[in-house]
Amino acid sequence: MSSFVRPRRSVLYMPGSNARALEKARSLAADGIIIDLEDAVAPDAKPGAREQVADDLARGGFGPREVVVRVNGADTPWFWDDLARFAQASAAGRGPDALLIPKIADPETLLAAGRRLEALGAPASLRLWAMIETPLAVLRALDIARAGANPVARLAVLVLGTNDLAKETGARIVPGRAPMQAWLSHCVLAARAGGVEVLDGVWNNFRDLGGLARECNEAADLGFDGKTLIHPTQIEPCNAAFIPPPEEIAEARMLIEVFDRPENAAKGVLQIEGRMYERMHADIARKRVALADAIEARG
Ligand code: COA
Ligand code: MG
Repeated sequence: MSSFVRPRRSVLYMPGSNARALEKARSLAADGIIIDLEDAVAPDAKPGAREQVADDLARGGFGPREVVVRVNGADTPWFWDDLARFAQASAAGRGPDALLIPKIADPETLLAAGRRLEALGAPASLRLWAMIETPLAVLRALDIARAGANPVARLAVLVLGTNDLAKETGARIVPGRAPMQAWLSHCVLAARAGGVEVLDGVWNNFRDLGGLARECNEAADLGFDGKTLIHPTQIEPCNAAFIPPPEEIAEARMLIEVFDRPENAAKGVLQIEGRMYERMHADIARKRVALADAIEARG
């Protein structure tokens, strides 16, 4: 399991119309940024913001941060022009790593977007991310995630839109998110079944970092790869929640080392200090170590 690991613990939204935020993004410790052209940009400002974002991406300087542009939804007048602009930027080697499509409700929209990107000459390295933020999307999460097996769809990540889900369902956003637990878990399962990654929604009260840290831990417990964020102060607590503490990394390295010993090559199960370890535990350990190493290598 030495496959390439891309840390996505902390992924920060910023309005595409906010040049100062984009400038700041180049020095923030977020694993990724989502430059928003959808909810955070007013209708009149859409075409201008699209150009401003494309120009800004061309300047580069984002370092190891994954750069994602959230385009407008497939049912809006801006969608195809958004795709065309960033396909063109990508073909010229100055595009984002991915486009995040809002309000996805079926795999067909991803496939249509993927086909369009292909026709426009966007390299396969330009991926698609899908917002899961409607009741239908949660119910169809498996079908959507399974598009990940089809290279045409370019799907890499599902992103939960918990504010929209609260709005659409009437569910209240309360500490611990009991009303949403079933949907959150369902989406994690769907993502894993489809072989794609999955990010939790945002914590709105950005002055309450204790509440944020609790919700990040909850998301990590549920199996999310990371959490989407709205403010730079949220990055550090979020990064901390999605990486195991040094003791656990050390234990993981020890476990890998023990399973890799020649005398243990044929053993499926071992005991170390009174605890049972199966090969699957070594596999989990390898994933954790790969993530820790990827984060360390980036500095
Ligand atoms: N990305 C990058 N930088 C950000 C940022 C973000 N999301 N949010 C705030 N900042 C910067 C500000 O520009 C400011 O920088 P400065 O001190 O160098 O001028 C600094 O962080 C402190 O900001 P602060 O004054 O605490 O917040 P604010 O009142 O300017 O902004 C929000 C608050 C909520 C409007 C802002 O955080 C934001 O726009 N968040 C993202 C919203 C979004 O994209 N929503 C759509 C998806 S949910
Ligand atoms: Mg939304």
